[in-house]
Amino acid sequence: MSSKIIINKKISSFKKKIYVSGDKSISIRCILLASQAIGKSKIFNLLESEDVMNALYCIKKFGINYKKHKNYYEISGLGLRGYNTNKPIVINAGNSGTLARLIMGLLVDCKDKIIIVGDSSLSKRDFSRVANPLRLFGANIALKNNKMPVTIQGSNFLRPINYQENLGSAQCKSAVMLAALKTPGITKIKARKSRDHTELLYKSLKIPIKLKSINNFDYIEIKGITNFNNFIYKVPGDISSCAFFLVLTLLSNKSAIIIKDININKSRSGVIRILNKMNAKIIVKNKKKYKGEMIADIVAKSKNNLRAVNCSKEINSSAIDEFLVIFLVAAKSKGISSFKDLGELNKKESPRLDIAVNFLKKIGIKVKRKNNDIKIYGNPKLELTGNYVMKNFRKDHRVFMMSCIAAMTLGGRWTIYDKESVKTSFPNFFKIIKSLGAKLV
Ligand code: S3P
Repeated sequence: MSSKIIINKKISSFKKKIYVSGDKSISIRCILLASQAIGKSKIFNLLESEDVMNALYCIKKFGINYKKHKNYYEISGLGLRGYNTNKPIVINAGNSGTLARLIMGLLVDCKDKIIIVGDSSLSKRDFSRVANPLRLFGANIALKNNKMPVTIQGSNFLRPINYQENLGSAQCKSAVMLAALKTPGITKIKARKSRDHTELLYKSLKIPIKLKSINNFDYIEIKGITNFNNFIYKVPGDISSCAFFLVLTLLSNKSAIIIKDININKSRSGVIRILNKMNAKIIVKNKKKYKGEMIADIVAKSKNNLRAVNCSKEINSSAIDEFLVIFLVAAKSKGISSFKDLGELNKKESPRLDIAVNFLKKIGIKVKRKNNDIKIYGNPKLELTGNYVMKNFRKDHRVFMMSCIAAMTLGGRWTIYDKESVKTSFPNFFKIIKSLGAKLV
């Protein structure tokens, strides 16, 4: 049985200051790294979503204890050799590609067979992209048609690798970076630019890492095996969750929002650059640096003169999880927006490029697609009056939330299935939209 919500009223004008939950990518990385540190780490503002809780359940299966305190989680790491992998264990990554792929990197030295499973969406995703480089370290990995279940058995004789990452995938890059921690010698990575949270965490933990950037590639060298100490970390707000409210505000009437303490790391904040090219006039205030990450408050107001964008493909990776809402802005903008080389969107929790194209057509927007390039013919006067049903999107949390934003800003009577999907990344979503005045049935 799937729960659904009905939205049949646009949101009224609002002026509010909000906080969104902690960053999902950083929360998962902090848990995995704390599980490998020596001693008790404290993580504040950890995102308490299903993907992140699954990371805690997984490390617990390897004998790593954690404890929830009032406003932080304490994780008792036992060092790089601290996982108890002497017996076969099954771990469940739920919906999380990040968790499943990154933890594989930590298992290249496991002694017995570990099996990684996930939910039905994760079970449809490709794992060969991570298995292939990890096999080169010496790990034995079996997949079923390149998919889950993943069976991994590590090796005592790991060797460092030279790896070229061409997809712009931070998950692939980070899995290799984690395996490098466990491997004596220097692992060298040339990676198409993608989010660099793992690199910044390594630097702040004083893990031996060398970084340089040339054109659209990062060159990374990691020296293993070096144990590192416990740490304290306060997770900043998630720009991917923030993006829903930026677009809600831009497309609403006479509204304004301040979203506090958001991570605006350049490798994540493509959404702000793209929306500002569309004349969104989003302002970033009170910038400060925290352990290499850039944190700021983000201010947005309603706009009725948005214009089309010609989005260069170099920016794709830094906005990869935000394209669904960016397309919504393109639908309401003057002119023809164009986006290129978005094949990776179809590799997410659902085939998001296919779903977005169908969605836009359903709300009466002309879209032209050629392979993985799309052109969206914007209509600033777009007003919906019909009935719209959203279902069968593999319970993808971001498709669900994007549909809610469309319903609250474009009009019409909407029935949106799989309400519980928000628990994956953003359990506070409903609480926040209600605090802004949304009427949900
Ligand atoms: C993530 C990387 C991105 C992103 C995902 C989280 C991460 O995936 O879409 O939501 O935390 O590293 P890819 O690395 O596959 O592009």
